Amino acid sequence: MVDEIKKGLQVTMQINIEKVDQIIGKYQEDSSALIRLLQEINREFRYLPKEALLRVAEKLDIPLSQLYSMATFYKSFKLTPSGQHEIHVCMGTACHVRGAQKILDTLTQKLHILPGETTADGQYTLETVNCLGACALGPLVTIDGKYTGKLKPKDAEKLVGGLYEKNSESS
Ligand code: FES
Repeated sequence: MVDEIKKGLQVTMQINIEKVDQIIGKYQEDSSALIRLLQEINREFRYLPKEALLRVAEKLDIPLSQLYSMATFYKSFKLTPSGQHEIHVCMGTACHVRGAQKILDTLTQKLHILPGETTADGQYTLETVNCLGACALGPLVTIDGKYTGKLKPKDAEKLVGGLYEKNSESS
């Protein structure tokens, strides 16, 4: 079972294991803080790298299968790296009736990825959510937490195009 889990966890980059140890050190004394520990690792690396989970399991003497269960139960944890920028498309009822599906279709075509995936260049991760709590602004998209509402498919296309242009200017 553990071997299957180890195989299932993807390794796509070298991680700073000292950073993982620092984070473990902060929470080591508090056994109830496991979720916060994993959240901090997830924030630091933008996902839960296999090496980090193995290190937590080893240092805190916790079965890897337990960590893996937590990582897959909570939607905020990722087992593959997120892009530099996270795009969330609201698919809640209010946004749906105002054309959220067309916005999502536009973004999947423009970025060549499906929801839950990251572009090959590691720049963008596309996610869907059920409600962003600002239904009057639907259809609504957030990019790195910034809200852009009342979107039309053309606007969504420009939004992503603009991000790519901005990125190539800064590189
Ligand atoms: S349904 Fe989209 S913000 Fe509420």
